[in-house]
Amino acid sequence: MKLSAVAIASGFAALALAAPAPTSYVVHEKREVQREKWSRRRDIKLNRDAVIPMSFGLAQRNLENGYDFLMDVSHPESKNYGKHWSMEKIADTFAPSLETLDFVKSWLMESGIEDERINLSKGRNWFKVNVTVEEAESLLRTQYHVYTNVQTGKDHLACDDYSVPVHIKEHIDFITPTVHFDATVKQKKQRRDLQTREMKVKPFPIIHPNPNAAPQPQITYSLANCDEYITPDCLRALYNFTNGTLAVSSYGIVEYTPEAYLQTDLNLFYSNLARQIPSGYAPTTDLIDGAIVQTSTQSFDDNGESDLDLQYAISLVYPQNVTLYQTGDTVEGASFNNFLDAIDASYCTSGGGDNPTYDAIYPDTEAGGYTGAENCGTITPASVISTSYGYNEADLTAAYEIRQCNEYMKLGLAGTTFLYSSGDYGVAGNGGECCTKAQCAGGTYNSGSSGTFNPSFPATCPYVTAVGATQIKPNTAVTATAPEEACQTVIYSGGGFSNVFAIPSYQSSAVATYFKSHKPSYTATQYNNSQTVRGYPDVAANGANYVVAVDGSLSLVYGTSASSPVFGSIITLINEQRVSAGKSAVGFINPTLYANPSAFNDITSGGNQGCGTNGFTAVAGWDPVTGLGTPNYGKLLEVFLALS
Ligand SMILES: *[C@@H]1O[C@H](CO)[C@@H](O)[C@H](O)[C@H]1NC(C)=O
Ligand SMILES: *[C@@H]1O[C@H](CO)[C@@H](O)[C@H](O)[C@H]1NC(C)=O
Ligand SMILES: *[C@@H]1O[C@H](CO)[C@@H](O)[C@H](O)[C@H]1NC(C)=O
Ligand SMILES: *[C@@H]1O[C@H](CO)[C@@H](O)[C@H](O)[C@H]1NC(C)=O
Ligand SMILES: *[C@@H]1O[C@H](CO)[C@@H](O)[C@H](O)[C@H]1NC(C)=O
Ligand SMILES: *[C@@H]1O[C@H](CO)[C@@H](O)[C@H](O)[C@H]1NC(C)=O
Repeated sequence: MKLSAVAIASGFAALALAAPAPTSYVVHEKREVQREKWSRRRDIKLNRDAVIPMSFGLAQRNLENGYDFLMDVSHPESKNYGKHWSMEKIADTFAPSLETLDFVKSWLMESGIEDERINLSKGRNWFKVNVTVEEAESLLRTQYHVYTNVQTGKDHLACDDYSVPVHIKEHIDFITPTVHFDATVKQKKQRRDLQTREMKVKPFPIIHPNPNAAPQPQITYSLANCDEYITPDCLRALYNFTNGTLAVSSYGIVEYTPEAYLQTDLNLFYSNLARQIPSGYAPTTDLIDGAIVQTSTQSFDDNGESDLDLQYAISLVYPQNVTLYQTGDTVEGASFNNFLDAIDASYCTSGGGDNPTYDAIYPDTEAGGYTGAENCGTITPASVISTSYGYNEADLTAAYEIRQCNEYMKLGLAGTTFLYSSGDYGVAGNGGECCTKAQCAGGTYNSGSSGTFNPSFPATCPYVTAVGATQIKPNTAVTATAPEEACQTVIYSGGGFSNVFAIPSYQSSAVATYFKSHKPSYTATQYNNSQTVRGYPDVAANGANYVVAVDGSLSLVYGTSASSPVFGSIITLINEQRVSAGKSAVGFINPTLYANPSAFNDITSGGNQGCGTNGFTAVAGWDPVTGLGTPNYGKLLEVFLALS
């Protein structure tokens, strides 16, 4: 859409007439550009008439009460425990107020944007307007530039900061496109090929990739060598649980295309490590935003994550259904918001809910992309959803993260448990990088030998359960009482303190005890030590030496990527028992977990080094390495079955 010069001119005339008193503006969001990633194109002069599709995220109502609403249905002492809300009630409760709609619309109209150009999204939480560069710069008191991603060569339109009138600030979450630069969703797993360990470990034959070939000699995995090979049986022994039986609860695993599982890998895994499951058994698959479970490219990077997550989720909860939420087409992929759009229509609101720099926009405009409409509230969420992908908090803006985090709060109200891996680099961020400035301001990173700790998102969102990683101590027997240690082989358990989210009351006593008895020696230069911010992870589970079938052979895989689906499996088995007892699924679990630390195996050794430090240390009680510890299913089940 092109605006005529006349339209623009009359717009400015209207502004001049309608606003005799100068409105005072305040900076709404500001962000430093990562110079090593983005170069500003001084050679490109922006066309003043170029059209920008602009979205105004409107502040929702009642968010300040969201925490209390969630506690009311999730705190073990609440008489309304388990009485989850309908999606309709949730949408009605949080929709922006009429006052917010009025204020923002009046501001746009006073700025010369005609009524008929302003489109309110279905969920009433976004205004969408096509504006010219000139209008955008005047409206937001900023300047737009073209930046080129030095790696991909892709051009991107952005500004360094933007402002809104003082009286509008509280009515707006954020505006796009503005200061948000791309960040891709990164996976959290690492592997070491079996080959590199083969010298040390003899009995491990390379199993043939073809499941129809003649039977291979079977390896004897046993509880005696769980310190070197983690299998489903090892996990059952460690965490005091048995196989599922009833098939009444639901478990979802989210994967982002092009990551995909191979059925042949599942079959290979079943035949070696989960023989109760028939060859060919597959997850129920929901394809989101034109997703396909692609098989055209195969490698550890294409298949490792999905194979790991599904093999363990399926084998631990079978015969309960596991649903795979395969998200994104093969051209754009997708982000957490795309998944959340698919399960909540009020979040999605017909394409208006996403930030085009962080989230895939469907229909896809690139060749070969998905040309249909995005999934918007068309997918029913499972009771427990585990995701083994993550960002650094500093990759994204705080406003974007808070908005997404509030969505986990709403889905918790609806009765869904969200689990996220806490990261594999200890106190450092993805790739071992640390921040160059206090509180990770500006989101600029170094190579990780020094600098500020770099927390991970969504692990720091107080409405998800963040899962860190442990390992079996070498040469230790595997029982439900032999404690593990923090994971220190290949990976370090992600943990620390948020730069964005305040401490939730459910963990304040645990965190206070940690600081009182084991105050780390670091200063505010390394992390926010104010004791007023969210600490993570909440819990931990084994993350080392997983035997996983990938691309036709068994590999050893490491990562909090493994820990999260395992913890989710245990919650799913608890739901199985609650549902058969006529109770609701557990929903948001953190308040109950923190109120029952004795249902965990406390982890008291190991650390999560990073940024040129030893990181934090696992100690008695909650710590920012392994949280409350690893689960004891039997004890957790008693706790959750005792609740209404
Ligand atoms: C903005 O312009 C695009 C392209 O012409 C159009 O598809 C879209 O509907 C417009 N949006 C609004 C809110 O007018
Ligand atoms: C405006 O929003 C409505 C739904 O709220 C939609 O039907 C309509 O197509 C939108 N118009 C534009 C121009 O985007
Ligand atoms: C599991 O999936 C099967 C096949 O899709 C379906 O018939 C069954 O109802 C599902 N069970 C649950 C508990 O969702
Ligand atoms: C669960 O199933 C596995 C695989 O068949 C089997 O090895 C294990 O003994 C079973 N465990 C229990 C407690 O039934
Ligand atoms: C720590 O977080 C608190 C709460 O968000 C904030 O007020 C404070 O400025 C932060 N302190 C440092 C040193 O970053
Ligand atoms: C395992 O769980 C059962 C309840 O199912 C409990 O009685 C038992 O004490 C637990 N075992 C250990 C070692 O904690």
